[in-house]
Amino acid sequence: MRIDVVTIFPDYFTPLTLSLLGKAMAAGLIEVRIHDLRTFTHDRHNIVDDTPYGGGPGMVMSPVPWGEALDEIAASGQGRQPVLVVPTPSGAVFNQQAAQAWTTDPWLVFACGRYEGIDARVAAHYSKSSDWAGVREVSIGDYVLAGGEAATLVMVEAVARLLPGVVGNEASVIDDSFAAGSMEHLVEGPVFTKPQEWRGLEVPEVLLRGHHGQIATWRAEQARLRTARIRPDLAALSPELDLG
Ligand code: ADE
Repeated sequence: MRIDVVTIFPDYFTPLTLSLLGKAMAAGLIEVRIHDLRTFTHDRHNIVDDTPYGGGPGMVMSPVPWGEALDEIAASGQGRQPVLVVPTPSGAVFNQQAAQAWTTDPWLVFACGRYEGIDARVAAHYSKSSDWAGVREVSIGDYVLAGGEAATLVMVEAVARLLPGVVGNEASVIDDSFAAGSMEHLVEGPVFTKPQEWRGLEVPEVLLRGHHGQIATWRAEQARLRTARIRPDLAALSPELDLG
């Protein structure tokens, strides 16, 4: 998968070279290119924002450098069409199902807005451009960040770890909280490792017996209990599980 990111803070993305994603990049499973939006300006101060039409607080990102940056990126794809992802608190919710669906996109371009956001004509223009495979305006949750950078890191990590070969143990991805299938509307229950007793706390006995059927049943029950206790919103999505 190819991932391009356009931002006024390229340094924000150095964490991508660490850990799991760094290894996936080194192995050629994902290719990440970071672009500084300011290099697509032509004034001495590399200005990327302006006052909002209609008035109001804050500044809006100009469509002009965005257009130049995104056109150049699409032109580098030798006829392939990228999907434009625009992180914004007013977007559709990005969740595990979205992350899973995006794993089949060969090329994602993330447009990180700052200030009050990007001039709306950018999303409008690229959603009807035949050089692009579509535009997705997405939110990672009901809170407002200072810009799209942190949201982009979140989405890149959520998608990349689902790509074949990125996480060493494929099964660990299948059992994730929210993963399609039995975990879709559940959070995972507790996990334990050695030592068997720590500060007076014992590992649940069923996990020591080696009976895989009993362990699976116990884990399913723990996931149900935990979901009912801390995520009533999720529990309500699966009345058949009787989560309370
Ligand atoms: N930019 C600012 N807040 C955001 C959010 N919650 N999700 C995605 N992008 C954002």
